[in-house]
Amino acid sequence: MTELSEKLENAKPVLESIPVIGPFLVHLLARQDDFKSSSDYWDRRYRTGGNSGPGSYKRLAEFKANFLNRFVDQYQIASVIEYGSGDGAQVKLARYPSYTGVDISPKAVEMCRILFSGDTSKRFLQWDAVVPDSMADLSLSLDASISWRIPCSTPTCGGCLNLLGAS
Ligand SMILES: C[S@@+](CC[C@H](N)C(=O)[O-])C[C@H]1O[C@@H](n2cnc3c(N)ncnc32)[C@H](O)[C@@H]1O
Repeated sequence: MTELSEKLENAKPVLESIPVIGPFLVHLLARQDDFKSSSDYWDRRYRTGGNSGPGSYKRLAEFKANFLNRFVDQYQIASVIEYGSGDGAQVKLARYPSYTGVDISPKAVEMCRILFSGDTSKRFLQWDAVVPDSMADLSLSLDASISWRIPCSTPTCGGCLNLLGAS
């Protein structure tokens, strides 16, 4: 039992007795205790039928795609790399000459490889398969920056600086 779940177990009777929000609070705290890492969260989400979230669909996805497609076209960008490519819903709207999608969730990468198996302009990699010379004209992170993780812990690492230099 983790420290948080132990505290929760002790506080549960008091929290549950709070009218209306009590049971909700217990539920929320229990879910927080489930959180191990961003990669675990997203991978579990995709494996259990979840998707990349509302920002990757409909109006919001179209807004992002319209802006980026115009930008890529206007500046004649030949290659794009995206960190946090997700389930592929947003990528479906992208019109880029060459695209590399990187994700922390192995399930997302697997889903996208299947979804775009006939499209040679797109490839999908797990974050730890990105090599320092994976340069692109444009580097993106859409709706994923809050869980950004630099692939190594050395701020002056040549590999990471090269990756960031692609931005
Ligand atoms: C909200 S979805 C956004 C998907 C897509 N970029 C879009 O705009 O529709 C966030 C995605 O970022 C991925 N992600 C989160 N942290 C990441 C990281 N440090 N490196 C690579 N991918 C990451 C998650 O697995 C998830 O698929």
